[in-house]
Amino acid sequence: MNVEQIKQIIGKLEDPHLGLSWSALDAIKKIEVFDDKIILSIDLVGPIVSVSNIIKEQIIEALSNAGIKANIEVTFNEICLDRTNRQFLKEVKHIIAVASGKGGVGKSAIAGNIAAALSKMGLKVGLLDADVYGPSQPTMFGLKEAKLEAITDSHGNTVAIPIKRDENLFIASMGFVLNRNEAAIVRGPMLASYFSLLFEQIEWGELDVLVFDLPPGTGDIQLTLVQKVPLNGAVIVTTPQEIALADVRRSIAMFRKVNVDILGIVENMSYFVPPDMPDRKYYIFGKDGGKIIAYEENVPLLGQIPLDIEMREANDGGEPVALTDKYPVQARTIKETTLELIKELRKHNYENLNKSIEIEM
Ligand SMILES: Nc1ncnc2c1ncn2[C@@H]1O[C@H](COP(=O)(O)OP(=O)(O)OP(=O)(O)O)[C@@H](O)[C@H]1O
Ligand SMILES: [Mg+2]
Repeated sequence: MNVEQIKQIIGKLEDPHLGLSWSALDAIKKIEVFDDKIILSIDLVGPIVSVSNIIKEQIIEALSNAGIKANIEVTFNEICLDRTNRQFLKEVKHIIAVASGKGGVGKSAIAGNIAAALSKMGLKVGLLDADVYGPSQPTMFGLKEAKLEAITDSHGNTVAIPIKRDENLFIASMGFVLNRNEAAIVRGPMLASYFSLLFEQIEWGELDVLVFDLPPGTGDIQLTLVQKVPLNGAVIVTTPQEIALADVRRSIAMFRKVNVDILGIVENMSYFVPPDMPDRKYYIFGKDGGKIIAYEENVPLLGQIPLDIEMREANDGGEPVALTDKYPVQARTIKETTLELIKELRKHNYENLNKSIEIEM
């Protein structure tokens, strides 16, 4: 075996999300061949968490099918969009907004669970709850009494430290800054200063993903927020009924107006399976509304999450399903949706990387 042979074999393999071969992607950066060992280095568009193991297995299988038996070491270099022009959140690799046109569709539940699922996959995740009038992440994660701690950093600036909720999961919420009675009366300049605290003064450190739970709607607050934060993309949550779908269109239009990619739609409360009648499925809010609008708007459907009693209890009880081992069925659904999200994020990151290269040239 020589370097050229190996390059031929693995160059034909494809990135599972991007559908392009390693040679087309010019991703193979190093091939070193020793007597009983091959060392490879591959560039991968981030986040690589869900694909790197699959790719490694594909490489081992392809080489083994070609009769090459050796110890194979693969290093992946995660390629991310350039962050040097950012004014803040420079250390965050990927920032995703979770939005909804309509309130009460489960946006915070989905945002919190996606953040938890990403952290369980081993990513370092921040969850930023920017809902001034109804912050729910403190309740979702059992942090109702938590307050942001302010410290002075090495440059003499006052910064706030997010709350560590799990091994890889950090949370900051308007609810850690304001109490409920204060929140209802915050307006104008006060609001602006709270937002600047949330976006510019929180010391997240390095993060793989920041999940940003937006307040519901498509008004001035939402528009300001999505312009302020350097988003890699947005996820729109909806329930299936017609009345929610009109708001999904408005939400998509808002993101498109400010050039934020729509990563996909999550249809929540899609159906209900009574625990005592597991073979029954009730479409309480109508069937496939989110799926249909995803098709109409030409964006992916990331998942359909059932209306579920345990999911509600877990969300409102301070321990979202994706964070514990107690609800494997529900956690599985969230994980599948999160994997779809990663896939779409990688696709958009790849396109945007190419766009920025074109601009440089
Ligand atoms: N799939 C689900 N099954 C059962 N309950 C759910 C589901 N999704 C969300 N809920 C519950 O519905 C309620 C509303 O959810 P949530 O607070 O996430 O909505 P929201 O869209 O963020 O609302 P708001 O507009 O107030 O921000 C919560 O009690 C939550 O636990
Ligand atoms: Mg909410």
